[in-house]
Amino acid sequence: MAQNTESRHGMWSNRWMFVLAAAGSAVGLGNIWKFPYITGENGGGAFVLLYLGCVALVGIPIMMAEVLIGREGRYSPINTVRVLIQQHKSSPAWVIIGWMGMLAGFLILSYYAVIAGWALHYIVQMANGSFDGVTAEFANDAFNGFLADPWKMVMWHTIFMTATIFIVARGVTKGLETAIRWFMPALLILLVVLLGYGVNSGGFEQGFAFMFSFNWESVTAESVLIAMGQAFFTLSLGMGAIMAYGAYMPSNASITSTVVIIALLDTFVALAAGLAIFPIVFANGLEPSQGPGLMFVTIPLAFGQMPLGALFGVIFFALVSFAAITSAISLTEPALAYLVEEYNAKRSRVAISVGIFCWVLGIGTVLSFNHWAEKYIVSDLTFFTFIDYVSQNIMLPLGGLLIALFAAYALPKTVVGSQLGLREGPLAVLWKVVIGVIAPLGVLTVFIATILGLG
Ligand code: PFF
Repeated sequence: MAQNTESRHGMWSNRWMFVLAAAGSAVGLGNIWKFPYITGENGGGAFVLLYLGCVALVGIPIMMAEVLIGREGRYSPINTVRVLIQQHKSSPAWVIIGWMGMLAGFLILSYYAVIAGWALHYIVQMANGSFDGVTAEFANDAFNGFLADPWKMVMWHTIFMTATIFIVARGVTKGLETAIRWFMPALLILLVVLLGYGVNSGGFEQGFAFMFSFNWESVTAESVLIAMGQAFFTLSLGMGAIMAYGAYMPSNASITSTVVIIALLDTFVALAAGLAIFPIVFANGLEPSQGPGLMFVTIPLAFGQMPLGALFGVIFFALVSFAAITSAISLTEPALAYLVEEYNAKRSRVAISVGIFCWVLGIGTVLSFNHWAEKYIVSDLTFFTFIDYVSQNIMLPLGGLLIALFAAYALPKTVVGSQLGLREGPLAVLWKVVIGVIAPLGVLTVFIATILGLG
């Protein structure tokens, strides 16, 4: 019984626009930058398997929960949860889902825009031919030199943030839809071209073996937490971005099939990015476990040595930037929608304020790579690694856990049933078991195991 069929912020033109938008949110730096490097750090194949398990058992059900809650309420996540609490007389404490999500969005966007700025910088570097025929040492030094220059980083960070705010300020249809309509198909085409390139790079067998052969010794309780955090991050779950997008989804589209398509697209892009990057790493005798710099050292190096490398290098970093911007816009949506609803403010004004706030916070990430590189917030975590760890590995899974419990226990069966098109019968029981038991227990177990494992 959806009480609203329209959102005041606008609606996606059709079901496929929702698929593109949610896939645009899901596919981002998490797939192309983070997934390959954390897979490299956590031993390859076994990690990939853990990650796929988390996507299937926890990610897909929680994404369904976010979409159904968003579509039922049709407001920003904070107000959607508020309205549903009132309607169904549940505890006001659930509203924490919305607040924590908004905070996680700010934290993630603050560093996301910095890293996306690196990709913009590399588009220009590749186009200049700065990497033509260089050695691994040169590529490493070039990356470290860039990280040591906060002004340059701030410049690209500013450009990326301005572009993001420009798009979101124009609204759901004119801003978000238009950008997504252009960027997503371009991204998929570029990715397929690059995958072909990786397959022919000479290191494909080794790269493939690295990603798909199991080495259980390298799996610790912490790698399970990282796999879970990555599943949340890559599917944009746990902070209300998908809930906010769900509020603009047409009422007659099927949530289950739509969500499965989005998760498959996202997984395809992550695996394809790994299969494009690792062969190049091995073909050039580089380390798969070199961390965040993986993409920014190996890719320029590899393209610098190949015919038409500058062109493919530009294509690659353009792909990363497109993927990043369609994700960044979704990071702002829960906050924008909330502030517009709450203060009846103009969307463009709110967008600029949120942009400035996250931009300032982003300076902390910029400095974490140079002046503050040795300043630790706790243990060995710098400003950047701390924000990244807390938002991705703690806030998103915790948010996801609460969202699952909210859908399972705070909403009446009839609401969920009508949103998912499930009334009685075995599928309805299966849904209840997955969202009410399996997904929450999965998240909790990983949390507890990590605390015990690390303690
Ligand atoms: N899913 C995005 C990525 O993989 O890069 C990151 C992200 C976007 C996380 C939006 C969370 C979010 F709400």
